[in-house]
Amino acid sequence: MVKFTDIKGFVFDLDGVITDTSRYHAQAWGQLADKLGVEYPGLGDAVKGISRMDALEMILKKGGLAGNYSAAEKEALAAEKNANYVQLIQNMSAKDILPGMADFLADLKAKGYGISLASASKNAPTILAKIGLSDYFTKAVDPATLQYGKPDPEIFVKAAQLLDLMPAQCIGLEDAAAGIAGINAAGETSVGIGDAELLHDAAINFTETSQVTLANIEKAMND
Ligand code: BG6
Ligand code: MG
Repeated sequence: MVKFTDIKGFVFDLDGVITDTSRYHAQAWGQLADKLGVEYPGLGDAVKGISRMDALEMILKKGGLAGNYSAAEKEALAAEKNANYVQLIQNMSAKDILPGMADFLADLKAKGYGISLASASKNAPTILAKIGLSDYFTKAVDPATLQYGKPDPEIFVKAAQLLDLMPAQCIGLEDAAAGIAGINAAGETSVGIGDAELLHDAAINFTETSQVTLANIEKAMND
């Protein structure tokens, strides 16, 4: 069992952890699903943490359309979703940082913990710049270099490597079930943020980002 004192670094998901962009992803995918005539109850939760192309495949499969599009047509559909998404994030600013996360990052930095980003989103650098948090995330896994998407542990293993740490020395923070599975498979301690039922595999669960503090994490690990 990992002790709090073993922890030296924190690996962050972005969408739904640092800022509430998951609703924009859900909205943009919803627009595309409607256009394709695909009904997908729970689409917003299903695409959380899932890469752009994998999310498209999930929607096509749900609508029984998996074999209907060429690779070039799928690229075009994914680009259309991204264009919708980019519109939705255009006016983001520091006001869109989720409650407590700016203070949490400042506290980690002040206390000398390593900080890295494990976001599947190719829009992550743009979003971090818009909300003014780029300086915390000089160490970020580039999702374009990944062979596998979440729930595979690859992104979380790489995020620990960027910090020169063993996975067991890292805590991973996630709002997606796929992300929690990846963190656990990487051998890191998982912190789930959101619905405890959805994130039942997380080692630690917080309902709200405002509960994410070093003191609360230490308490949870010692319980
Ligand atoms: C994840 C989101 O962070 O990034 C997913 O939770 C999204 O919903 C994925 O599909 C990829 O994002 P992007 O910006 O590269 O399309
Ligand atoms: Mg997320």
